[in-house]
Amino acid sequence: MKPQKRRKIFIFDTTLRDGEQCPGASLTPDEKLEIAKQLERLNVDIIEAGFPIASPGEVEAIQKISKVVKRPVICGLARMVPKDIDAVREALRFAQKKRLHVFLATSKIHREFKLRKEKSEILKLSVQNIKYGKKFFDDIEFSPEDAARTERNFLVQAVQAGVEAGATTVNIPDTVGYSMPEEFGDLIALLIKKIPALGKSVNLSVHCHNDLGLAVANSLEAVRNGANQVECTVNGIGERAGNASMEEIVMAIDTRRDLMNAYTDIHLKEITKSSRLVSHLTGLVVQPNKAIVGRNAFAHESGIHQDGILKMRQTYEIIDPARIGLKGSEIVMGKHSGRHAFRERLRKLGIKLNAAQLDEAFERFKGLSDQKKYVFDQDLEAIVEDQLGRIPETWHLEYFKISSESGSRPEATLRLKHKGKVSSSDSDGDGPVDACYRAIEKITGMKGRLSHYGIQSVTSGKDALGEVNVKVTFGNREVSGRGTSTDVIEASIKAYLFALNKVCAHIEQKPVSPI
Ligand code: KIV
Ligand code: ZN
Repeated sequence: MKPQKRRKIFIFDTTLRDGEQCPGASLTPDEKLEIAKQLERLNVDIIEAGFPIASPGEVEAIQKISKVVKRPVICGLARMVPKDIDAVREALRFAQKKRLHVFLATSKIHREFKLRKEKSEILKLSVQNIKYGKKFFDDIEFSPEDAARTERNFLVQAVQAGVEAGATTVNIPDTVGYSMPEEFGDLIALLIKKIPALGKSVNLSVHCHNDLGLAVANSLEAVRNGANQVECTVNGIGERAGNASMEEIVMAIDTRRDLMNAYTDIHLKEITKSSRLVSHLTGLVVQPNKAIVGRNAFAHESGIHQDGILKMRQTYEIIDPARIGLKGSEIVMGKHSGRHAFRERLRKLGIKLNAAQLDEAFERFKGLSDQKKYVFDQDLEAIVEDQLGRIPETWHLEYFKISSESGSRPEATLRLKHKGKVSSSDSDGDGPVDACYRAIEKITGMKGRLSHYGIQSVTSGKDALGEVNVKVTFGNREVSGRGTSTDVIEASIKAYLFALNKVCAHIEQKPVSPI
């Protein structure tokens, strides 16, 4: 049997119209233009750029887009009202390829409560306005809003009327995300059976909302039943729970081409960039576990998964992250990571350790990963440096406490261990670090003069490791010290003790020049 030819599925992107309609996502005309340019690089077929009657800013944005973005069809939305259609004409004045998208609700609940119109009026208005639009546009899309909840016979009647009036695409919206996949697939099959031109000479589109988390599943089921256009948004943004997510639709069609027998023309490598741009400009953060574009979509922390991925990526990944524009999978170093991943990460960082050193570094890493959510590369470097550059800990920090009240000098209480014995002392100071250093002086009896104190974050995130570097002069010796901790006071104490222990171990750095 000859293999069936794969069908092209048109990607109609409505990030700039339905996506922008979601709370808090409004975009300036320049921001819309930036996203439209990225959608062109992504190679979507149609960009729904806005709802021109909504505001002059909307018309301005669509005009800006139309002047610059030439490859995809640019589309504007209108109610079945001539003034809305005129607004789309004005907005698309400069577009090379343009589409008018008209909609009118057909479901009983919308007819009775929202529109207060009889079925016959809905049909009349649709036909009149599609015909009006046809005077100015060859390419017209008709959406019977809330189609999924419309009585089947009436929906067929409305779609038939729309096609006869001149619609070149019919879009079936599940406006409130109510459908179940099989039911929605059956609806598409029924429409094609009743109106065979659909999906052939007249494009058959679907537009699914995500109120039950089924927007993508419903869209895919529609494609399997003959729809040849999917309406979607980048990151799935949109009214309420959002629209079908572009990246999920596209990657499902691509990954399961064995079942879908279809393809899109999307440039997959642009997916990550598009997602990040939309998130950045709309301010809508992508949930970490979001399929395809979530921060964790290609991140592995479990030791077993990391081991599998390092041996053969496909053990735990169905998509090569490089295909969607990522550098690669991410092995997240954390408390679930195993020795294999740890050794591999050190190797990538160019750190070579012998077996014993590796064991010790791994133990230290495990200790740190209990304190920190994520262990970054810099943390690993700090661990190894600390380990390799270690000097005997003549004085070891056992405990510290800072008490401070606004308006009074902070007090530090410290306990240090020396040759198995613990000594403690308190001191106040000009600040918490000064108080700690004075307490160290009291306990050790070693007077030091701090000549440099520097602090920096060596890792990212709120629970970053802080690194403190100090230079302290003991007698005529100036020594440097470094300490790291998620607590900057602890890092400061460690840095000072590091320097002090160097003196104890007679590790000289630089003799102080006589004054
Ligand atoms: O959800 C919907 O019904 C719509 C139409 C305008 C297509 O967004
Ligand atoms: Zn919608």
